[in-house]
Amino acid sequence: MAAKPVKLIAIYPGSFDPITNGHLDLIERGSRLVDKLVIAVLRNERKQPLFTVAERAEMLSEVVKDFANVEVDHFDGLLVDYAAQKGASLIFRGIRAISDYEHELQMALMNRRLRPEIETVFLMASEAHSFISSHLVKQVIGLGGNISGLVPPLVEERLRNRLLGEQKSNASHS
Ligand code: PNS
Repeated sequence: MAAKPVKLIAIYPGSFDPITNGHLDLIERGSRLVDKLVIAVLRNERKQPLFTVAERAEMLSEVVKDFANVEVDHFDGLLVDYAAQKGASLIFRGIRAISDYEHELQMALMNRRLRPEIETVFLMASEAHSFISSHLVKQVIGLGGNISGLVPPLVEERLRNRLLGEQKSNASHS
């Protein structure tokens, strides 16, 4: 059995398009459990993101700037290879509802098969955040709904500029 690493490092990977208060809740919880938490934004996504990796990383960095042991990075390729390269022994993933579990279990088992020494740990956000997703937040604000309290204020402003600003400029061009 491998010895417990002296410095416990965890990776919290995701798309973060954009960061929500649900992610932030997890970052707070996760950062208390380890010496260092690396938030890793996936670079090559099949999904068409609203924000570039640089924009997402910049928002994340701003939002987590008061956490001394949290850093923001991005990665390509296999998550477990990136984790090994960072010296991480843990991967944190958030579970909101049972519907998340099946896909998360599949990923965790695949990652374990690829690198058994890296453990996936599932964390649960508080009930107040358990329904929040980046996808729904974008949909709601795009349709004129109120998302205050669901994302950090800086992210709300960026979303408003990106989605409602674009709508305004499309209207003026049509
Ligand atoms: O926020 P998301 O979109 O649910 O995050 C998904 C993520 C980044 C964790 C997942 O897509 C991922 O790990 N991608 C890297 C590719 C990889 O390692 N695949 C094999 C193991 S499932």
